Amino acid sequence: MNRFEQEIDQILNDLERNHLKRGLRQTQTATGAEIDYLGKTVLNFSSNDYLGLASEPFLKEVAIQAIEKWGTGSGAARLVCGNLKIHEALEEATAHFKGTEAALTFSSGFAVPLGIIPALVGKGDTVILDKLSHACLIDGAKLSGAKIRVFPHQNLRYLEKILKESSGKKLIVTESIFSMDGDLAPLREIIALKEKYGAWLMVDEAHATGVLGENGAGLMESLGCRSQVEIQMGTFSKALGSSGGYVAGSRQLIDLFINRARSFIFSTAPSPASSAVSLAAIQWIQSKAGNQRRELLQNYILSFSQKLNQLSQNSLFTGDQSPIFPWMVGDENKALELSQRILQQGALTVAIRYPTVPRQKARLRISLSAKHTPIQIDRLLGIMERSL
Ligand SMILES: Cc1ncc(COP(=O)(O)O)c(C=O)c1O
Repeated sequence: MNRFEQEIDQILNDLERNHLKRGLRQTQTATGAEIDYLGKTVLNFSSNDYLGLASEPFLKEVAIQAIEKWGTGSGAARLVCGNLKIHEALEEATAHFKGTEAALTFSSGFAVPLGIIPALVGKGDTVILDKLSHACLIDGAKLSGAKIRVFPHQNLRYLEKILKESSGKKLIVTESIFSMDGDLAPLREIIALKEKYGAWLMVDEAHATGVLGENGAGLMESLGCRSQVEIQMGTFSKALGSSGGYVAGSRQLIDLFINRARSFIFSTAPSPASSAVSLAAIQWIQSKAGNQRRELLQNYILSFSQKLNQLSQNSLFTGDQSPIFPWMVGDENKALELSQRILQQGALTVAIRYPTVPRQKARLRISLSAKHTPIQIDRLLGIMERSL
């Protein structure tokens, strides 16, 4: 081993020793109710395919037709010559869905905050983040060069303290459904604070889009507060069963991002197939069939959380309004072992460890999908009961 290899080896060994080393596991299909995992078909309670759209035949057909029409790749950045009709159609539909004037799409949800936070704030300004914010929000804030302040998860008193102390432009960033905890942000209270202190608010609806709201547009729709939030963002990659990200807001805001968001400007336009699938999924989610699928998911969420409460009175499991149920374990190795035991009994519930969640806050992240059947969910509950 040369010096370079030894140094890399040292990093990997440290990760291994702390039970934090990751490796890729190949699967045949990653979505739907079941998954082929390590050569075995098991129930899948780890995907974000909350509505089961990623394996819908009608969306596969949409993708094929888009490829026939526009080709497999977009060929260039949007501002060069990659701006296809399907991109604009998706943006128009996204803006309508989200109740805003305009929207802009990116190749991934992760790329959205990397581009838009630095477009909004810089040196002398402050980005204020919830402690449990997704990595892309943290990285976007870091890239901006603005001062970063973090408030303990959902702690409004601390948020207010930071707002009082901050100078320059103030941008508050939060998720609506927290990705690893499944709880909901107190958006009304955050809006009241941002108005009191003249801040801007950016809400990431990655996990709420397709899941909450009368038309599935997210938590802001269900709270009726969309017009009070300056910047809405999210992804097409979870309940919508596609890939890519979006930001939605005023026309002026979107024009700013077209000119200043580097992950938009310097990246090839999203593929025609993924854009077409995202568009069709948005339309479907607002249809009667979409509403019924969302209702089914909500029923699953309700009955699962009631059964979990019966299973354990000591709040091992949290969450009750979103499809994400963290089974809090704490120790990284114990979480890995528990996940393994559950896998052996036929269900995939992947252990989530640092740095995705704080150290010693490891958990199994259980996610429900409308594609599960009640029998499959009961099977998981049985496995969980035996594993307690
Ligand atoms: C809260 C949140 N925002 C953004 C993203 C990134 O979205 P994408 O997977 O489309 O890159 C994720 C993905 O895990 C997420 O959980």
